[in-house]
Amino acid sequence: MTVSPESQSQTADLDNGTAGIDTDTAGATPAAQSSFPVRRVSFADPLDGLTKHFAKDSNIVISHLLVQLSTVFPAGEEFFVRSVRAFRDDITDPVLRKEIANFIGQESVHGREHREMNERFQELGYRTMKTDRWTDWRLKKVTNTQSPILCLAVTVALEHCTAVLAEMMLETDASDYLGHPGVQSFMLWHALEESEHKSVAFDVYKAVGGSEEMRVKVMRAMLRIFTARAVGLTAWSLLRDRETYRRGRLRRDLAAFRKSPLLDRKRLQALLDFNRPDFHPNDHETAHLVDQWREELFGPDGTLTPHLGGSARAEAAAMSGAAASAA
Ligand SMILES: [Fe+2]
Ligand SMILES: [Fe+2]
Repeated sequence: MTVSPESQSQTADLDNGTAGIDTDTAGATPAAQSSFPVRRVSFADPLDGLTKHFAKDSNIVISHLLVQLSTVFPAGEEFFVRSVRAFRDDITDPVLRKEIANFIGQESVHGREHREMNERFQELGYRTMKTDRWTDWRLKKVTNTQSPILCLAVTVALEHCTAVLAEMMLETDASDYLGHPGVQSFMLWHALEESEHKSVAFDVYKAVGGSEEMRVKVMRAMLRIFTARAVGLTAWSLLRDRETYRRGRLRRDLAAFRKSPLLDRKRLQALLDFNRPDFHPNDHETAHLVDQWREELFGPDGTLTPHLGGSARAEAAAMSGAAASAA
């Protein structure tokens, strides 16, 4: 497995149990609580039996699109972590500091698990490692050549995109477009945590004086770049797959993709809502979805509860209990 030094240090933090703990402030502000935990979950077993075309009805378009999204996540999430961490010492609110620490912890686990899943996709014939390396190189160049506030604005914009995608996954039936149950659990876990921490980068950006003008301009650029990259990578990947050339297959699967929740117009409106003056990520109310999926994935009978590390299992149970008593 190829792991970047940055990812190695974040993984070491997780193994030491420190990624979710803000060591600067933990002693000074013992009462500071994050609204979400870091879960040390492993997908080694749930992804057993993964096949190349894992989407529902072996849809090649949806399979390739989701694999290409997965290939950019590890380096992308390391970029988000770098961008938010750059401002951590400027934040004085102890709750936001704790949420920054847990944001870093969650994104670090996402990157680690996506890289492991990407290795399986590579074994199945996708070229995920090449895209991962290129994305890592490109985003490190952005970090090294652009201002920290611009990198944070990019993170805020892309965190909104992932939050919209997450909301779609949490409120629709994932089995309508995802076939393999392990991939469903994986995507729903990532979606849950993206919803849980969707306002952290935004709140840091506002706290350090990030402008509305930069926020909106960067989002417009990101939507163009992200859409072009997702379409380009998916087309490139499909062209390398023999199934694409099987008579009628691409047409059939494109038609099913167009009808799937992935292309719902409601999501485009949610993306563009970001450009509204005084927008805040919590304007999109998703607390009920977070409560529902905490229970379904990490409650006492949760699908992923057996795959949590010991301390994370206790923390998830406490979160689930708190949500149940608040309801
Ligand atoms: Fe993530
Ligand atoms: Fe995120």
